This record gives sequence, C-alpha cells and structure tokens, in this order.
Amino acid sequence: CGIVGYVGSQSALDVVMAGLKRLEYRGYDSAGVAVLADGGLAAAKKAGKLVNLEKELVDRPLPTGTTGIGHTRWATHGAPNDPNAHPHLDNAGRVAVVHNGIIENFALLRAELEERGHTLSSDTDTEVVAHLLAEEFSATADLAESMRLVCRRLEGAFTLVAVHADEPDVVVGARRNSPLVVGVGEGEAFLASDVAAFIAHTRSAIELGQDQVVELRRDGVTVTGFDGRPADVHSYHVDWDASAAEKGGYDYFMLKEIAEQPKAVADTLLGRIDAAGSLRLDELRISPAELREVDKVVIVACGTAFHAGLIAKYAIEHWTRIPCEVELASEFRYRDPILDPRTLVIAISQSGETMDTLMALRHAREQGSKVLAICNTNGSTIPRESDAVLYTHAGPEVAVASTKAFLTQLVACYLVALYLGQTRGTKWGDEIHAVIRDLSRISDEVERVLETMEPVRRLARSLADKNTVLFLGRHVGYPVALEGALKLKELAYMHAEGFAAGELKHGPIALIEQDLPVVVVVPSPRGRSVLHDKIVSNIQEIRARGARTIVIAEEGDEAVVPYADHLISIPATPTLLQPLVATVPLQVFACELATARGNEVDQPRNLAKSVTVE
Ligand code: G6P
Repeated sequence: CGIVGYVGSQSALDVVMAGLKRLEYRGYDSAGVAVLADGGLAAAKKAGKLVNLEKELVDRPLPTGTTGIGHTRWATHGAPNDPNAHPHLDNAGRVAVVHNGIIENFALLRAELEERGHTLSSDTDTEVVAHLLAEEFSATADLAESMRLVCRRLEGAFTLVAVHADEPDVVVGARRNSPLVVGVGEGEAFLASDVAAFIAHTRSAIELGQDQVVELRRDGVTVTGFDGRPADVHSYHVDWDASAAEKGGYDYFMLKEIAEQPKAVADTLLGRIDAAGSLRLDELRISPAELREVDKVVIVACGTAFHAGLIAKYAIEHWTRIPCEVELASEFRYRDPILDPRTLVIAISQSGETMDTLMALRHAREQGSKVLAICNTNGSTIPRESDAVLYTHAGPEVAVASTKAFLTQLVACYLVALYLGQTRGTKWGDEIHAVIRDLSRISDEVERVLETMEPVRRLARSLADKNTVLFLGRHVGYPVALEGALKLKELAYMHAEGFAAGELKHGPIALIEQDLPVVVVVPSPRGRSVLHDKIVSNIQEIRARGARTIVIAEEGDEAVVPYADHLISIPATPTLLQPLVATVPLQVFACELATARGNEVDQPRNLAKSVTVE
C-alpha cells in the first residue's frame, strides 16, 4: 500500500493526491484521503483506482485544509470495496488512520472494542486502530503519545499515519517493518511510503527506524521509539529528481523503463571497475578476509528478483567454485534451512521492502550468516538490516512488472560473483578479466537489441488471441524462459510456462499442439556448443509436433534458421552474460501483447509492486 501525510501551508488535499499518484504502483485496489479543516475532519474514499477517488472529489468536494493524509490500497483484510478503503475513522469521526501491513491480533482487539461499545463498520484490521487511538486520545489529548500507546498493543507488521481533529496541525506516523520516510520542507513536512510522493517538494528526507513514532508539525519533526524515548534520526538527501519518476513522453512507465536499460546497466557498473580492469567494491561492508571464508552462498528473493538469483547461481558456481543455492524467500524462511557463519546469504530485492525477503534475511542473520543485499532502493529496510549492500542504480522503477531492475540485478550478481572470484583468486583469473571487459561493453549490446524490436512487437500483436505460450531454455536460458513466462502472466494474463528444454521430454512435451507458440532461448553456438546442439534438437522435436517456434538466437546462428517460424536475433555475448540481451525481447513481447489485449500495462490486475506482507 502507499501512504502520504502532509502538514504545511499548501492545500493538503492537492499535495496528498499528487503524492498518491506517485505511489499508485504500490497498490490500486482503492484509495482515500482525509483533511483537517474548520475544526473538523473530512474524508473521502473509493474502491478502484485513484481516478475513481478524483471523480468522487469533484462530485463531493472536501473543505480546504492544510493537514491531511491519504492511502492507496493493495487489499489484504477485506475485499477491495468502499467501506474497506482507507482512511478509517472512529465512531465520532474525529480521528482518521491509514495503514500498510497486517495487524495480526486485530480480531482480539476488535472483540475488546466491541465489548466497550464501539461499532466497527469495515472488515479491515485497520479500523481497530482508529478506535483505539480515539480512546487513548480522550485520556492523553496527545496524538503522538496515543499512537505510542496503541502501537505497543499491536502485533504484526504495520505502518500507520493518523490525524486528529483536536490537533489540527499535527500528523503522526508509526513504523514497524513496512516502510515510512519523512520529507522535511520549509514550514512544511511530509510522510510517505516512498520519497517519490514528496520529491516535487523537498529532497531532504529522514528514514524512520523500526518501532518509531514521528510527529510532524510545520516547524519540525520529532521522532521517538514506541517507548517514548527520543530516537536518533538519519537524514539524507534524495539524489534523483522528480523527472525520474515521470513518464517522459512514453505511453507507459514500462516502455520508458525498458528503454532506460542500457543506461541502468551502465550506471550499475559505474565506478566499480578500475583502470586496470579489476573490480572495486569497497562499498561492501564485508571484508575480503571474511569473503575468503565463505563456503556456501544462498540466494533468497521473490518474483523477478528470484529469476536474477537463478542466473547468478550459474555465474557464482562457475567463477568461484563455491556451492550456491537459490530459493524463494517465502519457502526458505519456514523450512529450517542449514546456515552458519560461513554461509553468505544474498537477498535480492528491487524495492528493499518485500516482506518475504526481509523475513528470510532476518532468519539468516539469526543463524549467524552474513547477508549481502542487492537492492535498488536507497535506505530501504532490506539493505539497512543486511551486513552489506550492493546497490543497483536502475533509478526509480514504477511499472509493476520489473524490467530495468532485473537487468541491473543481473549486473550486480555478476559483480558479486566476479568479486568473490577475484578475492579468492580462483583458477578462472583470466576469464574473470575477460568477463569484466565484456560486461563493460554490454550496455551497447542492450541498446542494439532495443533498436531491433519492431518485428517482436508485430509478432506479439499477431498472437493476441492465443491462450497459452510456452518458453524453453537451457543453462542460463532456463531462468530467462521463466522470466519471459512470468512477464506474460503478469501483463497479458495468459497461461505461460517456462521449462528447462531438457525436461521437455519428461512431461511438458505433451502440451505441444498445432500452432502453439513456443519461445526458445538458444545459447551461443560458440563456446559450449554441446548446449547449443541439444537445444536445436529440442526445437526440431517441438516443431515436428506442430509448435510455432519463436527462436531467440545469436546473430549469425545459421543452425536454427530452418526450424524457426520466427527468428529474433540478439548480439553475440559470452554464455553467462546472455540473459542481459535475451530478456529484453521477452519484455517487449509481453508489454506489446498486454497492450494488444487491452490490459493495463503499468498496473496489472491483482498485483502490487512492493508486497509488504507475508
Ligand atoms: C512483487 C512484484 C514483482 C517483484 C517481486 C519482488 O511481487 O510484483 O514484480 O519481482 O514483488 O520484488 P522486490 O522489490 O523484492 O524485487
């Protein structure tokens, strides 16, 4: 969910609505706002996307005030309808609350409130907080203190932001696990789940820590722990500007983000390779001595980031000879994995706040393992709780389906693998230098792929009425196939599956029927030619059974030509780096298919970009 709070001298409604627009990627099941004006509190909320709320505000305008809060929701408790939208109010309508996360003991708290005579009108866990705050406020007349008292009774993960009509120039926020950042302006202050919400007003930000409460007033902010003790605050300057979060002439954020990939890849490499062609990752807070001790690598991640991890395994094991496991963060945490201080856990996350990944890393650290985060969001929870971080420099990614973040995650994984190899002095020393050279040229190759995407778009449009598309790959082409299928599910809502091409004959080949589109990612014919020959046989096998083959192969790969109904050429790259170029046509393919099917590209149904619940 996305949260915004404002106190200052501008119209709170305008600031909050503009902020919510920037945060809509975090959830778009419903939206709502509350403003304090004329000694009272006025609120509006609506199921569906933000435009529904905008229409509601035109039909039934709210009074103008300079203190307000807003919310855009990804539903957890309760259906995405009007009553369940945030903000939630107490019975007297004096306090309004918005919330991100899950309050696990809400049923108990709700029963207690009902016993004390409160009437609750929604199915959400959030509403109990509004009622509890109202009770505490009537005793303390201090919203920040009331929030601290309430938070001490809540279990689960939550970020809360509240206002009270009796404290008209105050916004209070509380944070446990789910993100919350403060923006400090001249005579005004902001609260939001992500700096994007207030970047147009100020670039001066404060990170809120775990279990902290913040009180916002025009002339400053006060941060305390849930226990009331003053907290140390960490202020920072946001180093990207508002235009980075705009569409910049593209129809969709996703198209813009696909186009930004060459720069994102180059930015992630920037400053990390020295003049002699060696890696410089001084920013890692894990010493070379500690890295030399590592005897196992475990990668945890979700969604697209998990696919980056699957590719990283091939690179890490090949270049370092350290065994590497990759696991979905949600599975890892609850299976009692074997970890010790010599295990290096790598947590990959674009947002840095995916709850499944966060829980996995906490579990790993409890077992004494070192955790290295690969993350795109400065100051977010996952890097803050890790022992070390390697930031990807993709810039803000807004479209729900990840593109540029994925490519930069791959680059960061390669850097970690190569750095481990370099630090430990493996027998692949020469190869490592050659790969570093290839990596520094790869951004141009990604650019070349982007220049040749028109036939891919045409092909996608011609497949708009299909129900199923399969994806096949071997070696690093296998996770690329999984990622291609995921993109299609997320965006085109089509049945899409990725398979290891060698596994085809053990079952999935039964799915092949006349004219079924099958995308095959073909490894380079140079180098490991065995792999290449095997996949050419796989293409023949499926084509003989009627499949319509869409073949992604290296330029000049003549061997695939006779069996490709559609050929998508990509530049020659070393095998391990091929995912950086092979994934791009699959992103374009999915994006175009979604458009052809009339789907919302940036905000696919039922999804959210950052999932801050387990
Ligand atoms: C959500 C998004 C996916 C993303 C996954 C992991 O499910 O819809 O696109 O890959 O979270 O996100 P993270 O921010 O941890 O990379």
